[in-house]
Amino acid sequence: MSLTPINDKQAVAIHAANIVKNGMVVGLGTGSTANYFIEELARRQAQENLKVTTIASSTISMIKAQSLGLNVIALTQVSEIDLYVDGADEITPEMSLLKGRGYDLVLEKLLAKAAKQFLVVADKSKLVDRIGTNFAIPIEVMPMAWKAAKRSLEAAGGMGDLRQNVAKDGLSISSYGSLVLDMRFDKNMPEEALNHLINNTPGVVEHGIFRGLASTILIADNGKITEILNELRK
Ligand code: 5RP
Repeated sequence: MSLTPINDKQAVAIHAANIVKNGMVVGLGTGSTANYFIEELARRQAQENLKVTTIASSTISMIKAQSLGLNVIALTQVSEIDLYVDGADEITPEMSLLKGRGYDLVLEKLLAKAAKQFLVVADKSKLVDRIGTNFAIPIEVMPMAWKAAKRSLEAAGGMGDLRQNVAKDGLSISSYGSLVLDMRFDKNMPEEALNHLINNTPGVVEHGIFRGLASTILIADNGKITEILNELRK
């Protein structure tokens, strides 16, 4: 039997885990909401004999999933997955996402694209009017290119710097060896133009704006789950 959720993140994660069916290849997100999902998936495997194969979006999620007994395979083994479940930092009315506080954007975006269904799980604090409302845009850059990439982004009005580690005595480095620039842009810059600008900046490996990728968004608000569907996502 599912746990009684202790908060909205756990409530929405449990709801998502109940959507998983036998035989699915499931992408595991990164972050506190995704952690609740991993825990519930492992519980269903142990107590309900659910049979799943998983692919993790980060080293930390892979370690967690394996420690709970889930079978984790590498993305090199498949080109498509059934379902990817992950959180987000910001969600707009157009279903665009900002992700990347965990700075493993490369795999997160690959899994979002490779998934037949990308299910976003969040509490209602993540709903915003526009990308960049509460957070800077995380941009993974090749270490040798960070200064050049930063300068290009600054020339387009961006402001920010390299992300530091938690102890603030070094830099954050992604699972695949990138540095992370956290950049803010003029709030009047259209999201499409911003996405295009960052995509076309040499030295950028990946960034946290996810446009047109979510198939379904589940929002929890005081235990009540609302589903938002993207009819356009193929
Ligand atoms: C990691 C992410 C997370 O999904 C996002 O930061 C949300 O995290 P949380 O569920 O802890 O609020 O994008 O890169």
